[in-house]
Amino acid sequence: MPNLEKCDFLIVGGGIAGLSAALEASKYGKVIILTKDKISETATKKAQGGIAAAIDQIKDSTEFHFEDTINAGAGLCEEESVRILVTEGVERVKELIQMGARFDRAETEAGGGFALALEGAHKRRRILHAGDATGEEIQRTLGAKIVADKLVNIHQHTLGIDLIIENGKCIGVKALDLKNKCIKYFLAKATIITTGGLGQAYHYTTNPEVATGDGIAMAYRAGAVVTDMEFVQFHPTSLVQFEELKDIIALPRFLISEAVRGEGAVLLNNKDERFMEKYDTQKELAPRDIVSRAIYQEMQETRSDHVHLSLAKLDHEKIKKRFPVIYKTCLERGLDITRDNIPVAPAAHYFMGGIKTDIEGRTKTPGLYAAGECASLGIHGANRLASNSLLDGLVFGHRSAAAAKHETQDTRYKIQDTKHKATSKKGSIANSKLKEAELKRFKLIIKSSMWDNVGIVRSKESLTKALKLIGEVEKRLNYSPITKEEIELKNLTLVSKLTTKAALDRTESRGAHYRRDFPKTDDKNWKKHLEYHLN
Ligand code: SIN
Repeated sequence: MPNLEKCDFLIVGGGIAGLSAALEASKYGKVIILTKDKISETATKKAQGGIAAAIDQIKDSTEFHFEDTINAGAGLCEEESVRILVTEGVERVKELIQMGARFDRAETEAGGGFALALEGAHKRRRILHAGDATGEEIQRTLGAKIVADKLVNIHQHTLGIDLIIENGKCIGVKALDLKNKCIKYFLAKATIITTGGLGQAYHYTTNPEVATGDGIAMAYRAGAVVTDMEFVQFHPTSLVQFEELKDIIALPRFLISEAVRGEGAVLLNNKDERFMEKYDTQKELAPRDIVSRAIYQEMQETRSDHVHLSLAKLDHEKIKKRFPVIYKTCLERGLDITRDNIPVAPAAHYFMGGIKTDIEGRTKTPGLYAAGECASLGIHGANRLASNSLLDGLVFGHRSAAAAKHETQDTRYKIQDTKHKATSKKGSIANSKLKEAELKRFKLIIKSSMWDNVGIVRSKESLTKALKLIGEVEKRLNYSPITKEEIELKNLTLVSKLTTKAALDRTESRGAHYRRDFPKTDDKNWKKHLEYHLN
């Protein structure tokens, strides 16, 4: 089993950004993709609602999509990034359709034949969807193309530990082969991080268990700049089932797509009152930050851990056809959504911050690129517009590979592999320094202090408390981690610290970042991105 591999492009992460990057990169050279679980275990696969694109050029336009994205972003979107997203997004989505992605068709011919959905803060119907399993359909389409591509080599169950930096340049990744339990070195002319977000830093999240901020943490440790770390989006409607115990690690919560509200479902508090009109004229379809805070407020006032989503006014057959996964999953859990109200509450869902890149995915570290949820270039500002995340991964995954191709053409640069030859043998990884129970306890401390103190509503007091708790865990992890659990915990601890620090520094409220002690938006002092890096 060779423990050193070389390629032109090393892509870390197998969601939409990684697959989109791999497809483009394979036109120019040899590509390796690393995924820490199975390649199908991604946030992309769990995405329900859809992918936003102004493909209906009669009722919609890229200009309208641009405006809605900017408005949701609460003053922090970068116009150039958003312009690229909405215009190139249309091209990339059309390519996806040509590759065989099966999006739902309309019964009438409106929207170029596609059934376009509406979601929060969109002024036009522009969400292409495949029932309520859009991410899975996109992953299937891109995955099929990649598997057929002889230039792409996929290493599943391989977790990046750290970037390899030589003479200031990123030349690859030191990784842990989880199946063979050994260290491997992957050397590349260009490394593209597409590892997704950090939802697992929170007790309640819709994100899969793999979302532990690994790429962001690796890049930060290697000297890259991270930005907008305070902006975590809470999805308003995750399914709340049992009275959940705070002293055990919660499983990812099942998402009830915003598209359900787009089709007319309404939110009711525990007194059975519809409440969203008190908070915003767009009611249930206000931007996500507003809906999540409104639900939080109602839950506090009625001392409940959930509100309800009612589909009572929707046609039963339409619900089953349009939302088959939600219908079936809820039924398996004892809820018939054509009849029963759905208990829902906000959960951590998407990270607007991440590794700072330019519009081509370049970081400040030569040889290192990032795209998708782990990257940040002002596309989503302080609050992402619904269904713009798949589009972001598709567009900027592609762009980062296209930009990185020049690295592979640099003949002066030779990969230095001598240092990386003396590596561990199969099965040579030692046991964790921490006992299993300690690892679980530390993870729970991070997740609950983030949920309780760095959540939907924050304050100096809560953030200071979180920093202290995170700092205590960090002290116990003051060694080079060896096992998957240790590496993930170390990464979660680092990204949680950075998120908390940024939330403490930003003494205003904006988009998804709400400070009880600074409830107003302060453009004069804070209409800017906060950046963090080592040294
Ligand atoms: C949803 O279906 O509500 C999630 C889609 C998204 O996060 O944009």
